[in-house]
Amino acid sequence: MDAESTDVGRGCSEAKVSKNMFKISNIETSFARNFIEIKWKDDHSSRYHNHWMRFNCHCPKCFRVIVGQQRINCSLFPDEFPILHVHEDEEKAEIHLNYKGEVFTDHETILPLEWLRNHCYCDRCLSNMIEERQMKFALPSKDGLRPLHYDSIKDSKEGLFRVLQRVMEDGICYVKGVPVKEQFLLDFAESIGPLVDSTYGKYFKIQDLGSTDSITDTREFLTFHTDQAHYESELGVQFFHCLRFDEEVEGGESIIADMFQAAEILRKESPNDFRVLTKVPCTFATIDYNRKNPAYYETRKTVIEVDCDDQVVAVHFNTGLDSTVRVREDLIENYYRAHKKLWKIITRPELRFTHRMRPGDLLVFNNRRVAHGREAFVPNGGIRLLQSTYVNVEDVRSKYMVLGHQLGTEVTPTKIGNRSCI
Ligand SMILES: [Fe+2]
Repeated sequence: MDAESTDVGRGCSEAKVSKNMFKISNIETSFARNFIEIKWKDDHSSRYHNHWMRFNCHCPKCFRVIVGQQRINCSLFPDEFPILHVHEDEEKAEIHLNYKGEVFTDHETILPLEWLRNHCYCDRCLSNMIEERQMKFALPSKDGLRPLHYDSIKDSKEGLFRVLQRVMEDGICYVKGVPVKEQFLLDFAESIGPLVDSTYGKYFKIQDLGSTDSITDTREFLTFHTDQAHYESELGVQFFHCLRFDEEVEGGESIIADMFQAAEILRKESPNDFRVLTKVPCTFATIDYNRKNPAYYETRKTVIEVDCDDQVVAVHFNTGLDSTVRVREDLIENYYRAHKKLWKIITRPELRFTHRMRPGDLLVFNNRRVAHGREAFVPNGGIRLLQSTYVNVEDVRSKYMVLGHQLGTEVTPTKIGNRSCI
């Protein structure tokens, strides 16, 4: 059975080195501790536990072939079901297991060796898997925004893939020379995924209209923020498309910083403050019954989220939507001290991209990773007009992976800030 054709999950990168390693040198089973230990030809050792192996059985009765199909429910397993018998089928490159206990009578669990090796969950293999998906950070003061020209990416799968690759790897893609037409943005974003609705609507313009509803529609300074932090999940990938930016306009440059990079710097330089921001939540809110579209959005979450492997998996930052912190009194001062530390990192000049947009510029960035803002501006009779929309970050990653597959390009997706490191 070709497990890779039905299972896109990646495993240990070491397992790609040589087919020979799928040969087992020894199988040791432990009845007392409910696992088997496989020693591979390359001396790597893997342990697989009974619940895990039974759930992942590849026999035709158990193996899932249609998405969503429930072939096996691990909640129905008995607490204990020791191994009765294990053997290797060398010809098929599988191991076969029988368990004691009535529930699995007459059932043989089948696991292909290649699949087992690719899904080894020893510390080393898990670390490799996490490492492969780490974000790589740029140094804006040195690297700058690397533009793609629209002519080189338009109307092709390869071109769209290159844009998405930048978004996945760098958190942001800058495309120059796109059509200066309103419809362009909608068509381009929808070629990646469905547009996502929000308090701004599915699509919106950013212009100095002196709005009293949103700071966006003014000429004021907008500090670093991730959009729509008042949602349980911020919107995913954001598009800024410049329609007009007249020469007379002074200021108004876009500013961009990588929040995941800032979080990792905080972890290194000030571990206690990092830990505070992973434990003590702040409140983000937009509650306004008097605006054009009355709204009640409120959520309490930590600025930095880590997973069970202590990996940063989400960052939420929006001082414009920060609301009243409601936590135990002994946490209050720690929270404000840690927040200030993070702020000082985010605003370091060397971590900041500054870019004055020109008509025909398009910025596509991961709003779950990259914070953005805007310098204040003076119109001097000119106009600064951008339009924007959002696509779910998981739809963007899916498009990227599917395109990569179709183009025969093997890619590893980095973390995307969706509370998961894989
Ligand atoms: Fe924004």
